[in-house]
Amino acid sequence: MKTASFLLAAVATATTVLAGPNCPPLGPVYEKPYRFKDSAAMQSAIANLTAVFQALDQNNSPAMRANTTSYSIEVFSTSEEEPLIFSWHHTAAALREAKNNSGVRETSADAVYRLGSLTKVFTVYTWLVQDGDVKWNEPITKYVPELAAAADSARDDPVAHVPWDEVTIGALAGQLSGAIRDYGLMSEVTQEFNQSDAVQLGFPPLEPSDPMLPKCGQWPQCNRTEFFKGLLRAYPSFAPFATPAYTNTGYQILAYALESIKGKSFQTLMEESVLRPLGLNHTYFQKAPAEVGIIPGTRKGANWDYQLGDENPAGNMYSSVADISALGRAIMRSTLLPPVLTRRWLRPASMSSELVAGVGYPWGVRRVVVPYANGKHVVDAFNKAGSIGYYSSLLVLLPDYDAGFSVLIAGPQTPGNTNFNLADLLGTRLVPALEAAAREHADAKFGGEYVDETGTASLRLTTQPDRPGLGVENWVRNGTNMGYIAVVLQGGYSPVNASVRLYPAGLETVREDGSKRVAFKAVFEDLNQPARPDSMFSTDCGTWVAFTGVVYGTQPLDQFIFEIDAEGKVVSIENLALRAVMKKR
Ligand SMILES: *[C@@H]1O[C@H](CO)[C@@H](O)[C@H](O)[C@H]1NC(C)=O
Ligand SMILES: *[C@@H]1O[C@H](CO)[C@@H](O)[C@H](O)[C@H]1NC(C)=O
Ligand SMILES: *[C@@H]1O[C@H](CO)[C@@H](O)[C@H](O)[C@H]1NC(C)=O
Ligand SMILES: *[C@@H]1O[C@H](CO)[C@@H](O)[C@H](O)[C@H]1NC(C)=O
Ligand SMILES: *[C@@H]1O[C@H](CO)[C@@H](O)[C@H](O)[C@H]1NC(C)=O
Ligand SMILES: *[C@@H]1O[C@H](CO)[C@@H](O)[C@H](O)[C@H]1NC(C)=O
Ligand SMILES: *[C@@H]1O[C@H](CO)[C@@H](O)[C@H](O)[C@H]1NC(C)=O
Ligand SMILES: *[C@@H]1O[C@H](CO)[C@@H](O)[C@H](O)[C@H]1NC(C)=O
Repeated sequence: MKTASFLLAAVATATTVLAGPNCPPLGPVYEKPYRFKDSAAMQSAIANLTAVFQALDQNNSPAMRANTTSYSIEVFSTSEEEPLIFSWHHTAAALREAKNNSGVRETSADAVYRLGSLTKVFTVYTWLVQDGDVKWNEPITKYVPELAAAADSARDDPVAHVPWDEVTIGALAGQLSGAIRDYGLMSEVTQEFNQSDAVQLGFPPLEPSDPMLPKCGQWPQCNRTEFFKGLLRAYPSFAPFATPAYTNTGYQILAYALESIKGKSFQTLMEESVLRPLGLNHTYFQKAPAEVGIIPGTRKGANWDYQLGDENPAGNMYSSVADISALGRAIMRSTLLPPVLTRRWLRPASMSSELVAGVGYPWGVRRVVVPYANGKHVVDAFNKAGSIGYYSSLLVLLPDYDAGFSVLIAGPQTPGNTNFNLADLLGTRLVPALEAAAREHADAKFGGEYVDETGTASLRLTTQPDRPGLGVENWVRNGTNMGYIAVVLQGGYSPVNASVRLYPAGLETVREDGSKRVAFKAVFEDLNQPARPDSMFSTDCGTWVAFTGVVYGTQPLDQFIFEIDAEGKVVSIENLALRAVMKKR
């Protein structure tokens, strides 16, 4: 092995005991998994889920109260071969046996549940399909005259008034407006209790003439005039962009704005841009027929018929688990949006006060850590939950695997947090299995020896269970250990314990015959660097700063291009800086 002497002359760092973990770029660390039935890890996760759900359904445990709770679950992927990875349907005995039930007697992929706030995904999707996100940094006052008229008040008294001209479309979609959550609905005690009961609860009596006392809300519903009159009297919770703070009112206002931009009702906009193009025939913006529904108990008790009026875009909808899965697939496949817009959409709008969680449009973003003994892989999950009446719901998207799951639940005594409890149960089994499935596929497809025609350049690709990505070993050109050279040139010091690992760059050029070029980016790391699990500012994951840190004649040493034939077989790997195409042996 040759090593230029100037490299050896560079400063050597102190040797340390703890090796730093491999840190990939954000995103998938392998090609996304596709044939799930082939994967031993997925088979075992599915067997486990089956056993766990069987047990959950049999004993009427407090975790589910399965005697009265019905639910439907689908684990889905965008893979053409296996869009449905796993499903589970449980019908409560109470529903099956009810003599006078007005809905369906058995849950199924097509049975219709209420969604509650999961509706907000449809609402943002509608906006993005209709109008993109170009207006998202514009003030909402541009599209909602009632708010424009009120914007000035905040300058005199920011404690009492929302500065509506600082609230953008994106702020409303991303829960960053700082405005109140609801007006007259849900949280309003005077709508839930009569005056004497409220006083018993400790509240002071209010004069019926008090302008702050909503005259509308749950019933009768507020019309637009009343809504804005009331909303504009309400104090803000926070300044715009200070912290995520959930606002249903924001989604009502978004719908008014889109209606004004497009000149159609929000329901029409959603139906023409999302529901019909995706064939979501079991999804309803409002007033779903009872005959298709899962309705535990009475329609009134279950809140089947209750409509939110102008607040519908925040939480009124109805859908089936198959339609929610289809929605999730369409989002990840970019069926209705350009891929770049999907990538912008599947991002947090803000961090939150929880280390592993952010808030998006309207996503709850959860940062799931895939446990590698010697590596860091954080999978961002984009979730939206909802609950209304006897119903709760959840959609989870895992774009790193092009997979996700949908959960719809109905029952008069469903324990609190059941939707997220089910997500915990599903996610803890699925995420490691999806990662393992992706690694199994990557190993079978990319693993092996590669060498160029002259025998000057060669390398070997492998995977390891304790490290993310494809490991590059024995990378040699003209007798030189290129991994060592790469890490030394990038870091500017030696000696190093070189590590080179490849991750999908998300770039591919597909030719007419189906063959393609697929780009991977390498991370060059020195395993002699100490792990820094507890540092305040130092990081194990400065990876993103170092990409394209070694370039030869404009071509990066960390860029590799696979040639994949029309059958999906790997033909060769090319290193751009070395101008070397190495054929797979
Ligand atoms: C399923 O997996 C969990 C966690 O991985 C384990 O604790 C549990 O025992 C398994 N259950 C069954 C029935 O296999
Ligand atoms: C739940 O249903 C099972 C089977 O129908 C029954 O044996 C059990 O008594 C029920 N439990 C409750 C609490 O209703
Ligand atoms: C208030 O509601 C309670 C029931 O919650 C009822 O008993 C009471 O009569 C009501 N009072 C008035 C003044 O309507
Ligand atoms: C809204 O309701 C008020 C009564 O509170 C009524 O005076 C007004 O005409 C209604 N506005 C619309 C647009 O229906
Ligand atoms: C939805 O309904 C339309 C019109 O009846 C039909 O053409 C379409 O195939 C249906 N889509 C699905 C997914 O069932
Ligand atoms: C069915 O009848 C029972 C007993 O009369 C009643 O408690 C229940 O609320 C009824 N359910 C519906 C859906 O009407
Ligand atoms: C290989 O390295 C030798 C010695 O440095 C050099 O003379 C030769 O030109 C190199 N060959 C290629 C193909 O780079
Ligand atoms: C380099 O790091 C790997 C992984 O920590 C370790 O197994 C190996 O012994 C190290 N090699 C040297 C020369 O330090």
